[in-house]
Amino acid sequence: MKIQTSAPGKLMLLGEHAVVYGYPCLVTAVDNRLYVSAELHKKKEDEIVAPQVKESNFVKETLRVFKSKYHILDNLKIETQSEFSHTVGFGSSSAVTVATLKALSILLDISLSSKEIFDLSYEVVLAIQSVGSGFDVAIADYGHTLYFTGGGKEIRPLKNDEMHLVVGYSGTKADTPTLVKKVSALRKEKKEEVDGIFDSIGKLVGQATECIQIKKWEELGKLMTQNHTLLQSLDVSTDRLDSMVHTAVEAGAYGAKLSGAGGGDCMIALVHEDKREAVEKAIESVGGEVIRVKTNAEGVRIESGE
Ligand code: PMV
Repeated sequence: MKIQTSAPGKLMLLGEHAVVYGYPCLVTAVDNRLYVSAELHKKKEDEIVAPQVKESNFVKETLRVFKSKYHILDNLKIETQSEFSHTVGFGSSSAVTVATLKALSILLDISLSSKEIFDLSYEVVLAIQSVGSGFDVAIADYGHTLYFTGGGKEIRPLKNDEMHLVVGYSGTKADTPTLVKKVSALRKEKKEEVDGIFDSIGKLVGQATECIQIKKWEELGKLMTQNHTLLQSLDVSTDRLDSMVHTAVEAGAYGAKLSGAGGGDCMIALVHEDKREAVEKAIESVGGEVIRVKTNAEGVRIESGE
């Protein structure tokens, strides 16, 4: 038997960096998915067929953790396939981890709740990259749009429709652990100032949560742009991200910000559908690459083989 699962990519809506220090964030799942298939293997070792080396490290660690926890002696063949590149910052590491765990649990008939998948996946991700709030793991697992606090203390799905986002890739891959360490160093140097920024980001997340639930898009856009300004003061933005954000707002977006650790990856702009084309063109005119996504996508799921 071969089981195939898939998990969605993600975009951070508000709250990055502060979430590492216990503040909440908002994250949405996108309809670009990563697929994993798992089957029992007759060979003497596990076999991992993953196009990205990084993905195979996460699969390897997932197999190690799962096998030792559930005393599995069988060998397995795992194959991965993705609708998005690992360079854009959509969270391929967490998506591959969550999708692999789900596939293993179905294949080996070990029932795991969403929270158990979160806890195990977060353990795998921390073992490899040592830092991170776990928001990316939670969204790959639960999907839709989440209010999340660090380490998964609170994982609250929000009731909302699709939000209309334009996504612009900056052309550079961000190195998340390096940026998290950079913010930590800045906090050591200027603790009061940085904690003040985190407090402000936390407040924006609170206001934005309400806006999402009552569909106050214009207001939400403004909060996103304010969040970008706060991220600039943490020194994690880049000239390219700043100009993409600036031009998107000029072209009529409700608001825009970098999404994720900064230093590269993507920015997002919240738009009314009437403005989508103008905002996309504006982002391209400053060197951004537009990636089409739908938000609020389903979390990890079984695709076939059950
Ligand atoms: O770079 P990304 O998309 O993985 O986002 C990182 C977000 C941070 O808050 C900076 C780190 C984290 O794990 O929450």
